[in-house]
Amino acid sequence: MMSMNTYPYLLNGQWQESSSNETIELVSPYKDEVVGRVQAMSRDEVDEAIHGAKRAQQEWAALPVNKRAELLYAWAEKLEERVDEIGQIIMQEVGKNLNDAKKEVVRTAEIIRYTAEEGIRFNGGFMQGDSFPGGSKNKMAIIKKEALGVVLAISPFNYPVNLAAAKIAPALVTGNAVVFKPATQGAISGIKMVEALHDAGLPKGLLNLVTGRGSVIGDYLTSHPGIDMITFTGGTGTGQHLSQQASMVPVVLELGGKDPALVLEDADLTLAADQIVSGAFSYSGQRCTAIKRVFVLEDQADELVDMLKERVAKLSVGSPEENSFIVPLVDAKTTDYVQGLIDDAVTKKATVVYGNKREGNLLHPTLLDHVTTDMRVAWEEPFGPVLPVIRVKSLDEMIALTNESEFGLQASVFTQNVNSAFTVADKLEVGTVQVNGRTERGPDHFPFIGVKQSGLGVQGIGRSLETMTRDKVTVINL
Ligand code: NAP
Ligand code: G3H
Repeated sequence: MMSMNTYPYLLNGQWQESSSNETIELVSPYKDEVVGRVQAMSRDEVDEAIHGAKRAQQEWAALPVNKRAELLYAWAEKLEERVDEIGQIIMQEVGKNLNDAKKEVVRTAEIIRYTAEEGIRFNGGFMQGDSFPGGSKNKMAIIKKEALGVVLAISPFNYPVNLAAAKIAPALVTGNAVVFKPATQGAISGIKMVEALHDAGLPKGLLNLVTGRGSVIGDYLTSHPGIDMITFTGGTGTGQHLSQQASMVPVVLELGGKDPALVLEDADLTLAADQIVSGAFSYSGQRCTAIKRVFVLEDQADELVDMLKERVAKLSVGSPEENSFIVPLVDAKTTDYVQGLIDDAVTKKATVVYGNKREGNLLHPTLLDHVTTDMRVAWEEPFGPVLPVIRVKSLDEMIALTNESEFGLQASVFTQNVNSAFTVADKLEVGTVQVNGRTERGPDHFPFIGVKQSGLGVQGIGRSLETMTRDKVTVINL
């Protein structure tokens, strides 16, 4: 009999304990207590998860798409019924404040529903031969969209429900089966989300849930011959490693970022300060799309830094249970890393404008000025509540420093001149440029893409349907 806090995995429609008899203990990021335990699955069990998904896939793909969409609609409904319960679990497990944790569940239901709608309208195409030189009208191609097979979905801790469902929903509606491996810290939230899918009528084996440390079963999963496509969100190092393991299957990677805010000389500084602070510090900066550095001209820097400081000082700091804006980071290792970036900058004479205070995993929001390019925090991704301000001499320097980064997820450009906005946006080597707004992924039907070390391929609802299918061409010769 499993103890109340020990969670099973889902295999071929059955919730099970691992024959390894091993579980992984998950500790709260903000309290000295165990949140629960998940199964450390064996390789044989991982094998069966993949084979079971393979067996379920063909029958599923043969169903009409409107029937497949019905499962997604039912899933969205089940999730909405459990917003409070799953929101609580997300909060306890990854330390997201309760309001944001519940919003994550609501947003996930919206993504699933929109994906069902897009899936129903997702079609292939038709081409005539005579549009090519020498071609004939009597040759026609009918291009259908076919599922790839078994999609391996691997998600990170920071959106344990949302970023998982954003992979699972498009895979299912296009006729794929799924093997889902949640982040270990985040696995209970993932299990709860899958419970909702199971309750919605998930066919046996169509989604199998695999739990265990990525460092132990990750390579086995990603190099497994039964996997037909991998969709991954997580750190750049993990993503790079994974893409070397995978062979001859499509891989979509959404990785780390170092999103800059470029504050141009004609920027509305009030708007810029509001957006930068919200973008940098929500969920304590544990967002791939957080603003992670600010470029400002020397002449405006004092004014902007004062405005940032005023706003940072007002951020609530404390427990996610009290809906604090700044909450403890996911674990001590991450907190040590972020503190190391701050310490390095301080040693190299950055000015601490605000913060640099630590209580356990709780790092107070930290604003650093006079950050220079020899400091690690100018280039490395903190995934924590630290915002470096880099004073520059020109717009060209802002653009050059943006493009010098190994990352290329998003950038914010603050200007009141629409021509400057477009000119600068075109020069930035990033997936998305936000003009006069903070960097962020949503709305979730927009393409979401990282270039350079920030990713490979593209997500966003419509784009994910594309990447999880292949063309099947039938040519008619009249
Ligand atoms: P992570 O440590 O890279 O883990 C991500 C996932 O990969 C987890 O499920 C992890 O499992 C798994 N994993 C670990 N080793 C693996 C291996 N060898 N093979 C296959 N999977 C493996 O990332 P994280 O700490 O959860 O998330 C933070 C990072 O994700 C940040 O860098 C952030 O920028 C990035 N991120 C990017 C986006 C985006 O859309 N661009 C969104 C969110 C987060 P375990 O948990 O069991 O180790
Ligand atoms: O952490 C990475 C997420 O994809 C960011 O999503 O911009 O909605 O917070 P968000």
